Amino acid sequence: MSSETTAPSAMATQSIATTTITTIMVDSPLPPAIITTRRLLIRPLHPKDAPAMQLHGSPASVARYMSLAFPHPYTITHADTWISLNLTSPYHHFAICEIAAPHILIGGIGYKPGSDVEAHTGEVGYWIGEPFTGKGYVTEALEALTAWTFTERGDRVRRLYAGVFGGHTASMRCLEKCGYKAEGVLKGHVEKHGEVMDLHVFGLTKGDWEEWRRKREQEGSNN
Ligand SMILES: CC(C)(COP(=O)(O)OP(=O)(O)OC[C@H]1O[C@@H](n2cnc3c(N)ncnc32)[C@H](O)[C@@H]1OP(=O)(O)O)[C@@H](O)C(=O)NCCC(=O)NCCS
Repeated sequence: MSSETTAPSAMATQSIATTTITTIMVDSPLPPAIITTRRLLIRPLHPKDAPAMQLHGSPASVARYMSLAFPHPYTITHADTWISLNLTSPYHHFAICEIAAPHILIGGIGYKPGSDVEAHTGEVGYWIGEPFTGKGYVTEALEALTAWTFTERGDRVRRLYAGVFGGHTASMRCLEKCGYKAEGVLKGHVEKHGEVMDLHVFGLTKGDWEEWRRKREQEGSNN
């Protein structure tokens, strides 16, 4: 076999070898932030986040509009299990922290990658502890995560979306403020503890996000 024919496969092997998979262990240092915003820091989860996650995930108000995957009461075992599923890169679910306290989780944000014909999509999800609501934190975190995903993972993720239970106006506002559009309502699509609710679908393609960001920057420079 000539060296010309072996070269391409050698190159392919090289590009696979550069993808490093990392796992965060209980004695690992705090992982660095993937995003820093004006007030927040978003970083991969760490096993030591479990007590804060249990504390802030516990109130019924936090679980109310979440799927059954976010149980109530939220125990330390639930927190440990969720964290253990998210310690190996590439990470999809992250801790939200205040910049001044990067080791203290106050909420969570991330996206679930789609599969099959939806492999280019991600379903965003987020929550924040009760003492931190109403400060614009989730809007700030979601705007940043959306930008990070389309920028850093935009070759794979070209659409983000969320399903919001009927009546959850605060979450719908967060999405709208980050450029997501209300795309439709699936009537009676969810049932949680016997209560049937509509599911409001909000979505944003990478192209629409680029347009939204361009307009916003233009508006900012006009003011
Ligand atoms: C819902 C939730 C994500 C909002 O986060 P937050 O950080 O408090 O939201 P923000 O402060 O960034 O912005 C909320 C927006 O909704 C508005 N809002 C808040 N409560 C509202 C309510 N009850 N009705 C209408 N609008 C409301 C706010 O005024 C703000 O909009 P504005 O800036 O136009 O005034 C947060 O309370 C939470 O984590 N809840 C529990 C988990 C959850 O429900 N996750 C989402 C599942 S889809």
